[in-house]
Amino acid sequence: MKFHIITYGCQMNKSDSERIAGLLRELGWEEASGAETADLIILNTCSVRQSAENRVFGEVNNLVELKKTNPRLVVAITGCMPGRDKNNQMRKKLPGADLFFPIIDVIHLPEMLQALGVVLPQKNLPQDYLDFAPQYTNNFQAFIPIQTGCNNFCTYCVVPYSRGRERNRSVKSIVEEVKKLAEKGYLEITLLGQTINNYQAPDPENFSSLNPFKNHFAALLWELNQIEGIKWIHYTAADPQYMSDEVIATLILPKQVNYLHLPVQAGSNAVLAKMNRKYTRENYLEIITKIKKTRPGIALGTDIIVGFPGETAEDFTQTADLFRQADFDISYNAKYSPRSGTPAFKMADDVLLEEKERRWWVLQNLMEEIVLRKNQIFSNQEIEVLVEKCNNGLCSGHNNEMKFVQLNGDETLVGKIVKMKVDEAGMWVLRGKLVI
Ligand code: SAH
Ligand code: SF4
Ligand code: F3S
Repeated sequence: MKFHIITYGCQMNKSDSERIAGLLRELGWEEASGAETADLIILNTCSVRQSAENRVFGEVNNLVELKKTNPRLVVAITGCMPGRDKNNQMRKKLPGADLFFPIIDVIHLPEMLQALGVVLPQKNLPQDYLDFAPQYTNNFQAFIPIQTGCNNFCTYCVVPYSRGRERNRSVKSIVEEVKKLAEKGYLEITLLGQTINNYQAPDPENFSSLNPFKNHFAALLWELNQIEGIKWIHYTAADPQYMSDEVIATLILPKQVNYLHLPVQAGSNAVLAKMNRKYTRENYLEIITKIKKTRPGIALGTDIIVGFPGETAEDFTQTADLFRQADFDISYNAKYSPRSGTPAFKMADDVLLEEKERRWWVLQNLMEEIVLRKNQIFSNQEIEVLVEKCNNGLCSGHNNEMKFVQLNGDETLVGKIVKMKVDEAGMWVLRGKLVI
């Protein structure tokens, strides 16, 4: 039996797909070369904006056609769409799908397949899907989910509904996974969670007695920094309300990358309050100041929503102003998309699409101006880069600020951290030569 997984959405979904693949391998399935040769197709969906859901509706209809040539094909839909479909509206629009379940229920996939007549071996599987042995995408960098779900209930966001309430993985399980990766030669890990810096260990007794931190997230980072072999530790997404002094202090632990992703969403206090974000622009800028003092030169990333209900031109000016002050290297800017079932859905979506687009471009242009200026610092510098791919003598990867790099080289460099001299520092790529 062969499976094929199609993944939409964020890194959390990419990581979940690795764990679903791990579960299916455990059941003796193999990965198909594509949808056409699969007996089970899983769509791991995203609900964050309407456009993300629309893509899934389109794709399912195409996939269901494949049942004509393979009558035993099972089409399963999981990820973030099923969890928020409380009144079966989406399910009704997807009659061709055989299974439709929230990601948290993926542990029941074997029973669901059996109910459809698929014969499977009996296995003792973990009770939490986060504990499945994943099928990692490569052998040098890995996603490590440490938390899933969310209790924050920002008024625009589907995640608390689609993924459920926050659950935290045990320190023991996280440390064991990272130690195994280190033994296999993995160099970089990306920790994942929705309000990751509010990580609450279910088993704090497993922090070592030498650990100097009280805050659980800071303590976890300290533990992971002790693991020999791992070179770069990166995490996403931190929430400004939990960016305590202790967490800020961990930015200079030896393996932390020179990058922090700290979504601000808006720069106006009126909009932040309506979004149920529990900080003000002043709090946010104060945190940024502390961060830059602790680790000067750190690259900063953020997420911003433009055109939230009631966002006036003046509110938006505040966002652009905060953007300049924080001096972000990268910002994932999104036009507000109303999501049914969220509190903001009841607010009038009163910023015209044209105006949302205008605001989006203001931020985009601002980001390009800032990142180009900041990247100039790398001109003629030697930097360390993790090589991810090589093709016909051209390799690509990223530095420890998560910036995309290109350099000359061959396949032997893939999965290594090497030195590169930057010849050309552009907006979205640092180009250079391998230093031997
Ligand atoms: N937990 C993270 C982000 C999760 S969702 C955090 O709190 O920052 C990823 C991003 O999608 C959000 O940061 C937000 O910028 C964007 N987003 C979420 N809901 C949205 C909506 N309804 N419309 C537009 N963008 C949205
Ligand atoms: Fe959504 Fe807010 Fe939770 Fe992030 S913190 S996942 S934006 S509810
Ligand atoms: Fe990620 Fe989309 Fe779900 S952004 S958490 S896959 S709604």
